[in-house]
Amino acid sequence: MSEVADFKPGLEGVVAVETEIAEPDREGGVLRYRGIDIEELVGRYPYERVWGLLVDDDLDSVMPDPEPYEPARLTGDAPADLQAETARLAGHWALGKLNEISDEQAREDLGRLSSQMMGIVARSARLADGKADSVPHEVVASGRTAAEKFLLQWRGEADARHVKAIDTYWICTAEHGLNASTFTARVTASTGADCGASLSSAVGALSGPLHGGAPAYVKPMLEEVAAMGDPERWVRETLDAGKRIMGFGHRIYRAEDPRSRILKRTAHELDSPQVEIAEQLEEVALAELERRHPDRPLKTNVEYYSALVLDVAEIPPPLAPAMFACSRVAGWSAHILEQKRTGRLFRPSARYVGPAPRSLQPA
Ligand code: COA
Repeated sequence: MSEVADFKPGLEGVVAVETEIAEPDREGGVLRYRGIDIEELVGRYPYERVWGLLVDDDLDSVMPDPEPYEPARLTGDAPADLQAETARLAGHWALGKLNEISDEQAREDLGRLSSQMMGIVARSARLADGKADSVPHEVVASGRTAAEKFLLQWRGEADARHVKAIDTYWICTAEHGLNASTFTARVTASTGADCGASLSSAVGALSGPLHGGAPAYVKPMLEEVAAMGDPERWVRETLDAGKRIMGFGHRIYRAEDPRSRILKRTAHELDSPQVEIAEQLEEVALAELERRHPDRPLKTNVEYYSALVLDVAEIPPPLAPAMFACSRVAGWSAHILEQKRTGRLFRPSARYVGPAPRSLQPA
């Protein structure tokens, strides 16, 4: 088959790896981590054990606690801080290259990095709140779960509703197959780079609104719809202007996104003040998207109700991509380890469509 015939823009449908970790079930609307439906995990196991399930295939394995660490130079822009500090940690801890260290060493590096990445986001968020100091390590260590420790490191206190919101969000978004950021992590890992570089590059890949950043846009969107008081008109005008409705559509799912279902339920359980307007908008948006795109199911995706759940925990919208990165450290780590075991460098091809050969010499 020719290269031209193989060309798939965005690599949609191209199978680039085999994975034992997770792959969303396109038609079924179910997400399983190592074979276990996430419905069975939420509310029963805290995030740090789901991390163990994804990375070690063991729910009794736990992501380690964050070590005392002083980030070098935070700015309060959490995704940028996270990307920079994660790369810097590789140097600070003198991490070995993936092609030179054992699987056990890589697993240890990923555990240390994962929990530290949560700490970096918490510290950056604290700085954005105007607090340049840090919460004492023993206060952070007194938290019972990763979500509680995260909130303690950020705010010095951890409200139980906020803990539940973050833990549920983190579990729902911990892993999702070969999405853009996970692919990025695997591409970097495939070069033999260290775990810090692999995770840092993944953070950069999810800082855009099309992957992981959408919750940041959902809350202001719901406020706009509530202020207008006419969801139908808002949807019509938005689509007529050629804009996308944030929180709808998915590259993989053609059925309901199972994470959206769990997060919607959680938004109700936690009495999200925006759940009513969100449901009104969802109803008209789904109907109008179906009318305009009858051949392409555009359903509610994970990011829509994530925004409400994160709002319950008083997460400011700009922090949404960094919160997503915190949850995804599990999936990324699992994939980096899996990639290390394959030892195969990624090198897809491009079809050249540029200028024909030409000379710089005058004709
Ligand atoms: N609102 C309005 N129209 C949408 C839409 C949305 N949220 N998502 C897709 N569409 C439309 C596109 O405009 C396009 O229409 P066209 O064929 O008339 O040009 C068609 O559906 C297919 O879009 P495409 O970009 O090819 O779909 P995709 O599968 O590559 O995109 C997303 C997936 C997630 C990037 C896309 O649905 C999107 O941008 N959603 C909004 C952002 C978001 O929620 N991101 C979080 C993802 S978890």
